[in-house]
Parts: sequence; C-alpha cells; structure tokens
Amino acid sequence: MYKIAVFVSGRGSNLKSILDSFPQDENEVKVVCVVSDKIDCPAFETAHQNNIKTYSISNVNKEYYLVYSELISILDNLKVDLIVLAGYLKKIPDELIEQYEKRIINIHPALLPSFGGKGMYGSNVHKAVFEKSVQVSGATIHFVDKIYDNGKIIAQQSVNIGNVNTPKDIAERVLKIEHQLLPFVIKKFSMNKVVERNNRVYLLN
Ligand code: GRF
Repeated sequence: MYKIAVFVSGRGSNLKSILDSFPQDENEVKVVCVVSDKIDCPAFETAHQNNIKTYSISNVNKEYYLVYSELISILDNLKVDLIVLAGYLKKIPDELIEQYEKRIINIHPALLPSFGGKGMYGSNVHKAVFEKSVQVSGATIHFVDKIYDNGKIIAQQSVNIGNVNTPKDIAERVLKIEHQLLPFVIKKFSMNKVVERNNRVYLLN
C-alpha cells in the first residue's frame, strides 16, 4: 500500500479527485492524513467524510495547531511515502523538505516556469495568464524544493485557452486537467515509475 499525506488550504477538489481515483477501501494508494495551515476548511470536511485524520499546522505554537517538528514525527510514524501539496498555500520549511527529499510534490495551475513563484497562486495565476493573452495554459506537477515553484518538473498537461472570456474560464479548464494529472502522477509514484536521468524526470510506462 502506497501512503500519501495531502496538504490543503481550502476547497479540496484535488483531494476529492485523489479519493475518487483511489477508493480508500482498496490497498493501492491510501491517504493516511490531510494537513492544513487552517484550523478548518472544506477539504477537512472531505477528509472527515472519508475517516481520514486531519492536522492543522503552524510555524508558531498556537492552540489546536501542531508545529512542524511534531508533524514530521507523525508523518514518520504513519510511514508516509509521498507528501502531496494540493492547494497548500504556505511555504514548506526546509527541515521537512530535507527530511522528505524528492518525496514532496506540488500541483501548480499553470505551465511552470511561467506564472510561478511567490504570490502566484489560485486566481492570481489565471488573472496573469489572461492579461497576457496567453493562448495555452495548463497544470504542472513538480518536486518541492526550498524555492517556491522551483523544483524539477515531473509532469505537465496543457489546455487551449484561445477562446476564453474571463480568468474564471481558464481556472475551470485548468482545474479539469489537474483532476486528471495529479492522480495519474501519484499512481506512477506508487508503482515506482518516476525516475530521474540526466537531470530530467521521466514517467515510465
Ligand atoms: C488548484 O488550482 C491547485 O493547482 C492550486 O490550488 C488549487 C487548489 O484547489 N495549487 P483545490 O483546493 O484542490 O480545489
């Protein structure tokens, strides 16, 4: 069984698409916990409906919140194979990145390295893409390192946005792509079919 922890900050549609792709009563990919910087969010509702433990984390000691060092020991005890950032808005501290080197991935709603980096999240991304009159957008899944949206790219899927009228149209088209791409990549990880060769990442058949 391949164990993943999903980090969220809001709606949780990517968490839902993971749960839809990997029924938790089967032994393929198991979401062993859902983590957020929020004390509550719609994604936590989805987790609780699926009997998945949730944890709220903060960089500072706050009531009802864990600090990262506590979270790391929980992830270790759960024997997490992969951490999946799915709409998680906070920066992952270096200690967690070092501890889970090449085992933290993020999904970004644009074709990195374009339209990435600090402040480029959610609707900000789609507004920037719209205002540039970009004709193709898409989703990117990449390894998480110590710089925002900078880690090696694992997978990308593009979508034509030549005929959109609003940034919301872009968001909707890209989100559909995300809901396919993220489970696809998680499955490749679960089958040990994500490899790095000559400085590039390959997904094996
Ligand atoms: C997605 O668009 C994802 O690419 C970005 O944040 C959004 C999260 O959406 N990182 P949801 O919470 O999974 O619905």
